[in-house]
Amino acid sequence: MTHAHISTWAIALILFVVALVLQKSGKAKGAKIVSMILRVFYILIVVTGVQLLFKINITGEYFLKAALGIVVIGLMEMISVRTRKEKSTVVFWVIFLAALAYVIHLGFSL
Ligand code: HEM
Repeated sequence: MTHAHISTWAIALILFVVALVLQKSGKAKGAKIVSMILRVFYILIVVTGVQLLFKINITGEYFLKAALGIVVIGLMEMISVRTRKEKSTVVFWVIFLAALAYVIHLGFSL
């Protein structure tokens, strides 16, 4: 299950970048399709994460890890949508990168 969890968020990160590159290079239709697949992966990240939560004794740190994981997903979606609408994404990128680094650190250190 840990493997599935890591695979889902790693694939999601790749799809996220692919969708942004497509959008930026004017391929709106391709970006839309990749974004739809990305949303399926959001669900898979949460499902595999919740399954992992059921296997362990949940402490505050695991709860923080899970909550931040959901925040990271929310930020990916915010950046995708704002890029599509050509709005500024700088603040979201900063929070996203910090939250992502912290979630990965927490994930591997717990
Ligand atoms: C983009 C979002 C996420 C990232 C980057 C991420 C990253 C990670 C990483 C790196 C690990 C460690 C895997 C290992 O021990 O080998 C992990 C484990 C875990 N994740 Fe996530 N995760 C994300 C979202 C979530 C969500 C949404 C939940 C819960 C709803 C969740 C719950 C867990 C749990 C319970 C573990 C097991 C920790 C352990 O047993 O040591 N994660 N995650």
